[in-house]
Amino acid sequence: MKRVNVIVPAAGEGKRFGSSEKKTFFSIKGIPLIIHTLRRLAADPLVDSILPVVGQEDIKRLNEMIGTYGLEKVKKAISGGVERQDSVYNGLRFFLENMDDPQELIMIHDGARPLIPDGLIAHMVRELLNDPEIDGIIPGIRLTDTIKETDDKGFIKRTLDRESLIAVQTPQLFKLGILEKAYRVAYEKGIYATDDSSLVEQIGGRVKIIDGSVKNLKITKKEDIGLLYLYMEGEIYDQDWDWF
Ligand code: C5P
Repeated sequence: MKRVNVIVPAAGEGKRFGSSEKKTFFSIKGIPLIIHTLRRLAADPLVDSILPVVGQEDIKRLNEMIGTYGLEKVKKAISGGVERQDSVYNGLRFFLENMDDPQELIMIHDGARPLIPDGLIAHMVRELLNDPEIDGIIPGIRLTDTIKETDDKGFIKRTLDRESLIAVQTPQLFKLGILEKAYRVAYEKGIYATDDSSLVEQIGGRVKIIDGSVKNLKITKKEDIGLLYLYMEGEIYDQDWDWF
């Protein structure tokens, strides 16, 4: 099967995390968070190369870690930008300089999501390649809470229809050509988004959502670490996956 090249944005300041060590390098069981994420990606046979994007000041220490942990599929780290979108774009431009074929597969995965479900990447690649009408595949989970829209004083403006709402995650998978167009148009129009599929939607792309997992959590706040440890324990995490 065609293999994927992964951009890993990890250049956020992690302000909501609130620790002296940056979230990206926060130690989980003695190993920095970003290394957990990179290791899990590298272990997937469908992953060809991985490009981590971190703050300029962290490039040296991450490159040293890539050597120490023997992560051969991981390329040298590059520097990120002000917003997540800028960081991903830096990664995308790197791949564009080194690839000619618009059919190449590019995946974007947040450095702050260390628990990519087993089999998810293969499932996504199959879905994308099986249907030429699809421009992107992303995982998402149906919301279980009721969601309200509020004004800036905290008063409810309206209640949204929960049945049609999905919280989306990474990894997100696209072909190089469509992603290049989506990002180029976004910068031409000054559009900023918090995920990559939003930009593909903006150019009329068709993005399909498949089942994600709550265990594929994004570490944002300190309290997420407790959940992460729980999910990492034993086999609890992998047992309930059945993609095939
Ligand atoms: O801010 P958010 O939680 O959406 O960030 C998701 C991922 O994007 C994190 O892994 C974060 O490090 C990364 N990011 C980035 N460059 C930024 C901001 C966030 O690579 N300027």
